[in-house]
Amino acid sequence: MTQPETCTIDINAGQRRLEVAPGRSLFETLASEDVLLPSICGGDGRCGCCQARVLSAANEPTPAERKHLTPEQLGADWRLTCQVSVRGDLSVEIPEEFLAAKPVRARLEWMQEMTYDIRMLRFALIEPERIAFRAGQYIKLNVPTSVATSRPSRPFSFANPPSDDRAVELIVRHNPRGVCTNWIFNRLQPGHEVRLSGPYGHFGLSDTDLPMVWVAGGSGLSAFCSMLRHMAETGIERPCTLYFGAVARRDLYLLDELHAYQRDHAWFAFAPALSAPQPDDDWGGETGLITDVLDRHLDDGSGMEAYLCGSPGMLAAARKVLAAKGIGPERTFYDAFIRSANG
Ligand SMILES: Cc1cc2nc3c(=O)[nH]c(=O)nc-3n(C[C@H](O)[C@H](O)[C@H](O)COP(=O)(O)OP(=O)(O)OC[C@H]3O[C@@H](n4cnc5c(N)ncnc54)[C@H](O)[C@@H]3O)c2cc1C
Ligand code: FES
Repeated sequence: MTQPETCTIDINAGQRRLEVAPGRSLFETLASEDVLLPSICGGDGRCGCCQARVLSAANEPTPAERKHLTPEQLGADWRLTCQVSVRGDLSVEIPEEFLAAKPVRARLEWMQEMTYDIRMLRFALIEPERIAFRAGQYIKLNVPTSVATSRPSRPFSFANPPSDDRAVELIVRHNPRGVCTNWIFNRLQPGHEVRLSGPYGHFGLSDTDLPMVWVAGGSGLSAFCSMLRHMAETGIERPCTLYFGAVARRDLYLLDELHAYQRDHAWFAFAPALSAPQPDDDWGGETGLITDVLDRHLDDGSGMEAYLCGSPGMLAAARKVLAAKGIGPERTFYDAFIRSANG
């Protein structure tokens, strides 16, 4: 069968129609038209994020799709768009919230050391001048094309609250083997212009008023900073305890700010813990893995919600503890800093 020179992609029953060249994946083709679907793996079928309903796909679901989508979803035409080839006209239904993600140009205003391997960065937006996002969502920072990488961008959670909509603040942990964070730590300077896209993600406060347990490891504090600042600014007084796990004292940061929130807001409690305090750390606080601390402190979680941010290992351990305390999967929300290969 000969391939047409152009194909039409109809998005959400005529909301947008794209004339595109065939040959690439639907995910890449949409991205080239600034329809930026969520993705963590960069389009190799491993994260399961890039979902949409594709009503007329030419190719059968791939093994990656059978792994990430249930038979019910596949039966209802849900696909991973990075696994769908554009070979002819397509009709696609994309969740409205996904269409909110846009390319963003911004300039690094400042970068501040929080620990020996964690920095906070603030970017001032250039184009557009403002970005609408929810506390808990993430943005993707593009790696410059001069840096060799097979994935063009990396996800980082917003640390600033939605009211601060002319800027993007990130808390980034240096991965010594990492392409993007090496570039951030070794090359990026205030005044440099960067490309981002977003917002993405479902993580964030539910619309209940149930008390909350927040569990963060390392740079997982970022999303909670945004949520906490948002709650304080908007007068949301849902009781909430933040468990923050680090290895030693040198890995802790924002302690003064978080203790001040605890002092000023009766609804907020802060429990930092060290898993391996050093002899000269002079640490009188909680010790042990943050999941063990959670286990010791939380008696009965029924009627509560849990929010988790950090490594997949920490999340798995926390979910076990939470389930045993009565907070099941339906009331546990998380943002896994999943591993991405082929950096
Ligand atoms: C939704 C979401 C939000 C995130 N928010 C933040 C944030 O606010 N701050 C932050 O610092 N990070 C955050 N991350 C994690 C961050 O995107 C990754 O660590 C990213 O890969 C770092 O980019 P890099 O180019 O330096 O490393 P890469 O070049 O992508 O990776 C280098 C090597 O390290 C491995 N690797 C990558 N990530 C991890 C990991 N998490 N654990 C173990 N090994 C890993 C890779 O497999 C690869 O071998 C978030 C991730 C997700 C999915
Ligand atoms: S982009 Fe990760 S599965 Fe499609």
